[in-house]
Amino acid sequence: ASLKALNTFHVDASAERLLELHDVTLLPEVLALPEVAGKPLLVLGAGSNVLIADDVPGTVLVFANREITALEHRADHTVVRAGAGVNWHGLVMWSLQNGLSGLENLALIPGTAGAAPIQNIGAYGVQVDEFINAVEAWDRAEQAWVRLEADACQFGYRDSLFKHEPDRYLITAIELRLPLLHDLRVGYAGIAEEMQAMGVELPVAADVANAVIAIRRRKLPDPDVLGNAGSFFKNPVLPLDQVDVLLQQYPDIPVYPAAQDTHRKVSAAWMIEACGWKGYRDGDAGVAPSHALVLVNHGNATGGQLLDLARRISASVLEKFGVPIEPEPRLIGAQW
Ligand code: FAD
Ligand code: EPU
Repeated sequence: ASLKALNTFHVDASAERLLELHDVTLLPEVLALPEVAGKPLLVLGAGSNVLIADDVPGTVLVFANREITALEHRADHTVVRAGAGVNWHGLVMWSLQNGLSGLENLALIPGTAGAAPIQNIGAYGVQVDEFINAVEAWDRAEQAWVRLEADACQFGYRDSLFKHEPDRYLITAIELRLPLLHDLRVGYAGIAEEMQAMGVELPVAADVANAVIAIRRRKLPDPDVLGNAGSFFKNPVLPLDQVDVLLQQYPDIPVYPAAQDTHRKVSAAWMIEACGWKGYRDGDAGVAPSHALVLVNHGNATGGQLLDLARRISASVLEKFGVPIEPEPRLIGAQW
């Protein structure tokens, strides 16, 4: 089966076998099928954070459970459960339409609810772990259903337990705790200005979502038009002394707070642009003209060609700035 429509880079690779599962309670039986058991297994959501560098052996499994359920209504919050196959942006819109807030800064992030905890999706000053109650999964190591509370998930910047133990947990649903009212997060560059331009005076959560959507549409290429996986590199998190040295030489480099106050996040996009890559193109593999952190497929680039370009970019950033940068998407069929 072709995976071209199942990854947002639209790389043309194939899978030996593709399975779509609607009733996730059947998962243990499916995994025990002779054609599945003992062979490689890859779960894919919308394929918006993968770079497929080779044909995929074994089974590609897609969860198609798309129910959203309000489990519990409290005075100040509602607990919501979303099946792994639910479209993330659809869930954000559903929550806002139902008077719930929290997810507005995460509007328009592609992908599925099931993948959201994997890299702890984040944008415009919010990460999803703030609102995650629990993750439901099939644990392949223990051969058991598990419910992992947020504390057990080891969430960090673009990081979680699920990244440390890839392929162990098959996430079938997530549970979110969404406030009815909360302080809107509008500090991230551009949001307040965008709302002002939209004529919003007393913003509600939906206004923040609309501002985020407008900014994202301007900056990030639409994968349906130009294949991409969003940011290809994570912003490097560096110790303060190294940041100081960088700032002495490059005072304009954007620097953001990190989880630990001994460290700072440094803009990878800025460094890549400074190395001259923005808008670069070699065959069909390139860098978005609108954002230096986004690798793009102009048509028929292979995963290998995109990976090759990524390696050239990271080598040049290392040479110029002494900073290693690492891919954000999962590489399939290749090592970094
Ligand atoms: P996939 O790409 O299908 O999978 C990603 C990884 O998770 C793979 O390792 C896969 O095996 C695993 N996986 C997926 N589903 C499951 C499951 N149910 N159980 C176990 N493992 C699973 N990310 C951000 O954080 N912030 C952004 O602002 C952002 N902007 C983006 C903009 C664009 C235009 C694009 C294309 C991507 C962007 N991303 C962003 C990245 C991407 O949207 C997220 O990482 C998203 O969560 C990926 O979801 P997916 O369903 O497509 O996962
Ligand atoms: N910049 C440049 N050149 C560019 C683009 C950006 O110099 O071509 C500089 C600008 O100074 C800009 C700054 O970088 O102000 C930050 O840019 P942006 O706001 O676009 O954020 P980012 O750090 O590039 C991160 C996430 C995005 C997320 C945005 C918004 C990572 C790896 N990426 O990008 O997430 O949407 O912030 O919060 O943390 C993704 O993970 O796929 C993704 C798109």
